[in-house]
Amino acid sequence: DSFLLLALAGGYLFGSIPFGLLLTRLAGLGDIRSIGSGNIGATNVLRTGRKDLALATLVLDSGKAGLACLAFTFLHSTEAGLIAGGAAFFGHCFPVWLKFKGGKGVATFLGVLLAAAWPVGVLTCLTWLGMALLMRISSLSALVAAAAAPALALAFGRHDVALLALLLTLPLYWRHRENITRLLSGTEPRIGAAKT
Ligand code: G3P
Repeated sequence: DSFLLLALAGGYLFGSIPFGLLLTRLAGLGDIRSIGSGNIGATNVLRTGRKDLALATLVLDSGKAGLACLAFTFLHSTEAGLIAGGAAFFGHCFPVWLKFKGGKGVATFLGVLLAAAWPVGVLTCLTWLGMALLMRISSLSALVAAAAAPALALAFGRHDVALLALLLTLPLYWRHRENITRLLSGTEPRIGAAKT
């Protein structure tokens, strides 16, 4: 089905818009990739001290993946929506414009889940939030929430979403490998801490 290919390509291209990089550059903050962890996501944008830009990055990054999922679900099918949302996640993590060195996929992961199966998305967000309040470490919260997502999708009888979540959790962990090393050595910075 050629429409599924369109969902793949459209989702990827939409997902590859690096909002964190664009917003911080527009705000005259320089290249976000040379600040803090070097990541282009909301957590690292927060390290510039601009809470507004961090929130905008979170909303736009999750929104682009959610929108890709919703648009192709509406235009074609649930399957096309999941493919577009998944492709948006990969576009964000591995954008052709940034030589495939993109973000870590947390916001886009949450965006796809919220669009594909909102109760699963909400519970995954709450898992992130609960961990963040408890530990105050963004990456750890993301790793726990991403691990919980496939099980949560299964609990809601959404085998398709569980499979997608599992497929996305693996690259999400891969993109967090430096964070995992820092978590294991106890040097991962807490939310609200100054630059790493
Ligand atoms: O949003 C990504 C987060 O899990 C980690 O970001 O900048 O602390 O590596 P960062």
